[in-house]
Amino acid sequence: MHLTNEEEKMLESDNQAVQKAMKLLVKLGDIYGAEEMVEITSAQASGVSYKSIGDPGIKFLEEFAEEGAKVSVPTFANPAGMDLDNWEEMGISEDFAEKQNRIVEAMRKMGINITASCTPYLWSNLPVRNEHIAWAESSAVSFANSVIGAKTNREGGPSALAAAITGRTPKHGLHLEENRKPTHVVDVDVGLENISDFGALGSWVGRKVEDGKPYFTGIDHASTDQLKALGAAMAASGAVALYFVEGTTVDPMDVSGLEKLHFTDNEMDRECEDLTDTEQPDIVVFGCPHCSINEIEDIAEALEGRKIDKDLWVLTSKAVKTWADRMGYTETIEEAGGKVLSDTCNVVCPLEDMGYGNTGTNSGKAANYLPGFCEQKVCFADRDELLEKVLK
Ligand code: F3S
Repeated sequence: MHLTNEEEKMLESDNQAVQKAMKLLVKLGDIYGAEEMVEITSAQASGVSYKSIGDPGIKFLEEFAEEGAKVSVPTFANPAGMDLDNWEEMGISEDFAEKQNRIVEAMRKMGINITASCTPYLWSNLPVRNEHIAWAESSAVSFANSVIGAKTNREGGPSALAAAITGRTPKHGLHLEENRKPTHVVDVDVGLENISDFGALGSWVGRKVEDGKPYFTGIDHASTDQLKALGAAMAASGAVALYFVEGTTVDPMDVSGLEKLHFTDNEMDRECEDLTDTEQPDIVVFGCPHCSINEIEDIAEALEGRKIDKDLWVLTSKAVKTWADRMGYTETIEEAGGKVLSDTCNVVCPLEDMGYGNTGTNSGKAANYLPGFCEQKVCFADRDELLEKVLK
């Protein structure tokens, strides 16, 4: 692998953290057959939750920070295992909170922005087309590649951190233009309205194409929120990191000769059924990926003047939560009996240790992950249907 002088110097650096980071990237580059490194403009650090990385993860991060690890490009943290300010209100134990805070502290020491969100592109970290980045959270990776047109592989926690420190990543996979071509055509022959419709479509397609790059036809229009739901679901049931929506993310392309998939009412109904284990959630969670301000506004409107008798969480970033506070949406949701939580995620918080066993979600990604990662039975439905299940 060809390294520039600066990269060679990093390999021999007196700073142990820089040296380790560059060694890891060179090793990965060799494994993937990269010929060179590419400079990145931002990174996204994963492995932020104590639930995901445990005590060994804390030890690694604290030692790495102690060795002088510092990020060299803007770097943003993924969701943590709790709302960093309101963890008690969530029902998180003191022991979990103490450990979570040590992770956050080590990351802060390295210069990582503690944004604790999977949708940084909604309010701060917005790359431009063709920019090389090293992001780690699968839904954000999918959105960055497909909707924004930036270039990133689906990084793991260590490789994203190494990229953040060196400002480089091995140039392979989706950093190369020749690998950014559709592999399948998905003909959508059903009207898509709700976030859950896009989640069900994504869940079905991800399983079919695995790590392929689907090209959708038949979707008249998709909003930012719908696209983030679609990409998140495909990245969860499969490993899709790049997709195309004709007329929305790309102009029509020549896709003749590609394998064709057909998504109709039948597939939609069967997918929704397959994702559902229970009709009776004991908690409903919205915000996987983290809610935009528009999604929170819609939830607040639906709850205006009403009361719920089960738990309801609306997950978002701290930035969007502040905005929702200012607009009065948080107050409306809280008056109804729900909570607007920031910094955390339904999969990496310890939902299963907090007495929940049945979760309602409109997210295709959450519906795929909750049974395995959180021992939850899932009620998969659209927002209004879920709200009806928790309203008094
Ligand atoms: Fe975000 Fe967690 Fe869902 S990281 S996409 S809320 S599984």
